Amino acid sequence: MEKNIIKDKLNRPMHDLRISVIDRCNFRCQYCMPAEKFGPDFEFLPRSALLTYEEIERLGKIFVRLGVEKIRLTGGEPLLRKDLPHLVEKLSAIKGLSDIGLTTNGVLLPKLANELKAAGLKRVNVSLDTLNDELFGQINGRGIGTAPVLEGIEAAKQAGLGVKINMVVKKGLNDTEIIPMAKFCKEQGLELRYIEFMDVGSTNGWKMDDVITKRQIFHLLNEEFELEPVGPAYFGEVAKLYKYKDKDVNVGFITSVSESFCSSCTRSRLSANGQIFTCLFNGNGHDIRNFMRNGATDEQLVERITAIWNGRDDRYSDERTAETNKNRKKIEMSYIGG
Ligand code: GTP
Ligand code: 5AD
Ligand code: SF4
Ligand code: SF4
Repeated sequence: MEKNIIKDKLNRPMHDLRISVIDRCNFRCQYCMPAEKFGPDFEFLPRSALLTYEEIERLGKIFVRLGVEKIRLTGGEPLLRKDLPHLVEKLSAIKGLSDIGLTTNGVLLPKLANELKAAGLKRVNVSLDTLNDELFGQINGRGIGTAPVLEGIEAAKQAGLGVKINMVVKKGLNDTEIIPMAKFCKEQGLELRYIEFMDVGSTNGWKMDDVITKRQIFHLLNEEFELEPVGPAYFGEVAKLYKYKDKDVNVGFITSVSESFCSSCTRSRLSANGQIFTCLFNGNGHDIRNFMRNGATDEQLVERITAIWNGRDDRYSDERTAETNKNRKKIEMSYIGG
């Protein structure tokens, strides 16, 4: 298919599209949707506010025309959206798309992994921050142990999906789990990515002091394992990858705080209620849902999305300081799924 690759002000193409399909989650991870802020009275989006599957498919095709090669479905927890495999099927039929992934807490994978694979899903990234049940229950704010997630990971593997593990590391919370998680993932043949705790949204109480950096983690790993660097699997990959010398398994770091990667950031984000965000930390979304519902043609959608991307100059992580963190209007992670 003929693509018309669009570039932003810093000459970055739009390569990936991350689509949040729902803002709800069955977890309340303290670094993402803390239970104190997202309690029983919290008003999530009504169904009518969510983009329908037909709307997402239509936009997906347009984004692909404009250069997107990869789509990742996120949430909240994307598997809570009814009949998600149906959406995957629609998206995987789009010509010109080379990858469809899903970021999930894993709990619903035993139920859905086979169906997702059959619908065309290629990979899942599963969040798991510790192997300790008590600590995991504390982190997810729901007292849920690791078993449902481990079962989800196993189900995904059995279904033939690629699986990576995301571990957000927060000082004093789960830094003692760095080595146990590495050992477990190495043994299981799973790519583990350590994620620096980020100042996303304005509810997770982020402080620079809470961040454990790649350098610190790398130091710990080096005492235990021999690692060698490997290049990125694709242009703009956010994880810096290494492999174990004695086993063909990768381990990676997502260094959004200590070594930002904005200069190669090719991600556009579509929120559950149909706004386009050009950066994880830019709270000003651009409405596309109402524009579409008011009768915009495909050509008008192309024009609007092109204008939004052409006007993009975000590089928040490059510019981050303790000060910018305080004053900026930011979007919650649950709206755009990281
Ligand atoms: P693949 O490389 O396709 O496997 O996925 P991914 O690592 O891009 O996606 P995933 O949803 O697993 O994200 C992992 C972590 O990286 C999450 O904490 C994201 O919030 C973070 N992340 C992803 N993209 C960006 C980005 O553009 N900027 C920043 N600062 N963080 C990002
Ligand atoms: N900092 C870093 N990563 C986060 N995630 C959620 N909140 C944060 C945060 N504050 C991660 C989750 C998930 C991915 C989509 O985003 O662990 O793996
Ligand atoms: Fe839910 Fe994922 Fe956020 Fe945890 S990190 S609350 S599993 S969306
Ligand atoms: Fe991209 Fe914004 Fe993250 Fe920088 S901070 S890598 S521009 S999403």
